[in-house]
Amino acid sequence: SESVVRRDRFSGGPARGFLSSLAADERIFEADLAVDRAHVVMLAECDVIDDETAGDILSALDAIEVEGHANLPDGEDVHEAIETAVIEAVGPDGGRMHTARSRNDEVATCIRYRLREDVLATLEATLTLRETLADVAAEHSETTMPGYTHLQPAQPVTVGHWALSYEQAVRRDTERLLEAYDRINVSPLGAAAFGGTTFDINRERTAALLGFDDVLENSMDAASSRDFLLETVQALSTLATTLSGLAEDVIIFANRGFVDLSDDYSSTSSIMPQKKNPDTLELVRAVAGDAAGGVQGLTTTLKGLPRAYNRDLQRATPHAWSTVDAVLEATNVVSGAVGTADWNEAALAAEAGAGFSTATGVADLLAANGVPFRTAHELVALAAERGGDAAAIEAAADEVLAEPLEAYVDGETLEAALDPDHSVASRDSVGGPAPEAVRAQLESAADVLEAD
Ligand code: ARG
Repeated sequence: SESVVRRDRFSGGPARGFLSSLAADERIFEADLAVDRAHVVMLAECDVIDDETAGDILSALDAIEVEGHANLPDGEDVHEAIETAVIEAVGPDGGRMHTARSRNDEVATCIRYRLREDVLATLEATLTLRETLADVAAEHSETTMPGYTHLQPAQPVTVGHWALSYEQAVRRDTERLLEAYDRINVSPLGAAAFGGTTFDINRERTAALLGFDDVLENSMDAASSRDFLLETVQALSTLATTLSGLAEDVIIFANRGFVDLSDDYSSTSSIMPQKKNPDTLELVRAVAGDAAGGVQGLTTTLKGLPRAYNRDLQRATPHAWSTVDAVLEATNVVSGAVGTADWNEAALAAEAGAGFSTATGVADLLAANGVPFRTAHELVALAAERGGDAAAIEAAADEVLAEPLEAYVDGETLEAALDPDHSVASRDSVGGPAPEAVRAQLESAADVLEAD
């Protein structure tokens, strides 16, 4: 037939492999079968093709599914290969499957269909991670630990407060992915090459059969836009960036003996027998780089593409697959590593007050008792240089204040301010580290998790 002649002419010659996306299209093999089925059912319902032909094509598609992607005939992509297989099975009438559509709307629909599944899996993984972090927080709402800025001891917090800091960040990653999902889940099918079709088709019907919420209206936009890929990969990259910070924290905490990773999430050295390394978390840290690379690759590919379809788009899609695979895996690994880690409460307590980490609390105490905060800050800074204990604070007060320290605070109150546990308990402002503030954050964690 004519189409076979044309295909022979454009079979690609030496550039065949370069043109073809058939191998990478394995990812959308099932999606393409679903899209073919929905399209054929709609064509028959709209009397564009007859029921018998539709039935034959649907049976052929079932057989092709059983054979699997690996047994498809050669083709420029999965869409062409499946069509060839349908025609081989049904005869020339099989070629009616491609009425009123193009590979352009077809591939856009397949990508959206498959990406939905991957984004849902990643969303699920963020929920699991949030649950895991909330569990850690519930167990350790009173486990005092050092908190850092610039990697230097800054103020005591609790493991619970730390864990919820990431739980709340991952909540926003869930939100971003949910928003991306809503814009993925619309159907471009029926846009044809980009210019619509003369056939009286029903785009809402194929959208409904494929579980899409709506139809992408403008046919040129539907066939050629890939901003849904970009925003999904951006959301994944943001999630990966959150994960990388969490991973880095745990790597540092493990290095300081604050946390012990389970063997399942550690590696040893092939030469140094004593080693137990946090390799899984180092890989998580690196995935943030892969994901940022995905954003970069996709953006650079899409930038400046004119309307409507251009073959560049074929090389845009794999950036999304590799990013979603890496970030999903990393999210699950973080849940596993954090969920099975043991926190060393004694080591954490021993370090919680290190580096005069209660200095801010002492300055706050002086300020609450009549010393201007800036004066209190200078006084405590002076005391810090001299060891940061009660004696150093008294000596600094003698230099800085008009009256002796006792005129402002008594010794017992000062001792309490120097105690890391007391310091944590006293910072009970909304969202703070005090156990009751952490418990309030745990409640919101449970509520939002339930809603998501
Ligand atoms: N495999 C292609 C893609 O992934 C779809 C083919 C459309 N090709 C074309 N020359 N119009 O984008």
